[in-house]
Amino acid sequence: MNNSFKTFLKHTAKDFHNQSVNPPVVRASTIIFKSMQHIRKTQAKAQKNPIGGHYDYGRQGTSTTHILQKILTKLEESYHVFTTPTGFGAVFLAIFSVTRPGDEIIITDSVYSPTRILTQDFLKEFNIKAVFYDPHDLKTIEKNITKKTKLIFVENPGSNSFEFQDLGKIISIAKKNKILTAIDNTWATPYYFKPIKFGFDMSIVSATKYYSGHSDVMGGSLAVNKKVFNKVKTAERNTGLRLGPDDAYLITRGLRTLDVRLDRHSENAKKVAEFLSKNKKFKLLYPYKKDSYNFRMWKKYYSGASGLMGLKIKSKNTNSVRKFVNSLKLFGYGYSWGGFESLVLHQEFRETGNRKYLNLAKDEHLVRLHIGLEDPSDLITDINQALKHLK
Ligand SMILES: Cc1ncc(COP(=O)(O)O)c(C=O)c1O
Repeated sequence: MNNSFKTFLKHTAKDFHNQSVNPPVVRASTIIFKSMQHIRKTQAKAQKNPIGGHYDYGRQGTSTTHILQKILTKLEESYHVFTTPTGFGAVFLAIFSVTRPGDEIIITDSVYSPTRILTQDFLKEFNIKAVFYDPHDLKTIEKNITKKTKLIFVENPGSNSFEFQDLGKIISIAKKNKILTAIDNTWATPYYFKPIKFGFDMSIVSATKYYSGHSDVMGGSLAVNKKVFNKVKTAERNTGLRLGPDDAYLITRGLRTLDVRLDRHSENAKKVAEFLSKNKKFKLLYPYKKDSYNFRMWKKYYSGASGLMGLKIKSKNTNSVRKFVNSLKLFGYGYSWGGFESLVLHQEFRETGNRKYLNLAKDEHLVRLHIGLEDPSDLITDINQALKHLK
């Protein structure tokens, strides 16, 4: 029977041995073997089949992490998925796996600011150069390609500014120039867009967000194709960047309802976006306006939109923007997103990174909203009362 992925998520990882509908959390540093021959046999199996779940030490994982990797590999339609202790760990693992001193990386200017700091400042100390391209002018990728370029790193949509890029064009530029590609796909998850199937070599998702869905765990996933598998495996082994079994269990539990939650986030976000789009005090940063470039690029590649959106507010009165944000009662003020609850964040300049192509004027402000699973009419009522403060 060829069940859909929605059914797969509900039925996978049952534990018939313990007669439990969920897998056990296998916590282990030492993994016990019956004999020396047994350990050698397991190691030989692991060498022959490195994605088969054969472990000789807890740092490599246990059955709990293996089950999560199997589910994610199916969701991503990838060759394999590595799981890391945080989403940012997956960003680092992707870049570190394929770059060496003297190499260059070309990165979306609108990338998540810690990724910018990692590549622009930290990797510079290792003689790896990062060049940033304009997400709406892909000629800035082509212009910056040199013999040293090893990787094009994309984040779509842009962090806080929500630009949608022409992903097909990026893949064809990369293939033509024989450059590897990675994408941070946390906003959509492979439920709405499958990067590996599309042609990317690596795809990152912060599992902290929609995969877990309950704001109580951190984790990351790095999906890969066969071409880069060995490089990433080597880097993973040499850095010990692996997710622990308790966190793997919580993420597996969250994944059971990924489709249900994302469908609802999307439905709620659409209702809130319709309300917000009528207001002239700001520009809504969400794929809703059919005649816009961002909408067309989203529609071309994505089967849905998640619950994260932005507002670009023009106001000389910064205090009124703060008052608007602080007056929201159902939107908690805090970092992260992808959980069941609504959140808001006023992006200070340093949080958007030192961007070249953001074009944010002094009197423009970025506010990020995560639309949660509350009743959308309550969220709209809340935003409506808070908007009175915006001057
Ligand atoms: C787009 C994106 N990528 C990666 C990360 C990093 O994930 P984590 O917080 O799990 O390290 C974040 C976190 O906010 C993010 O928004």
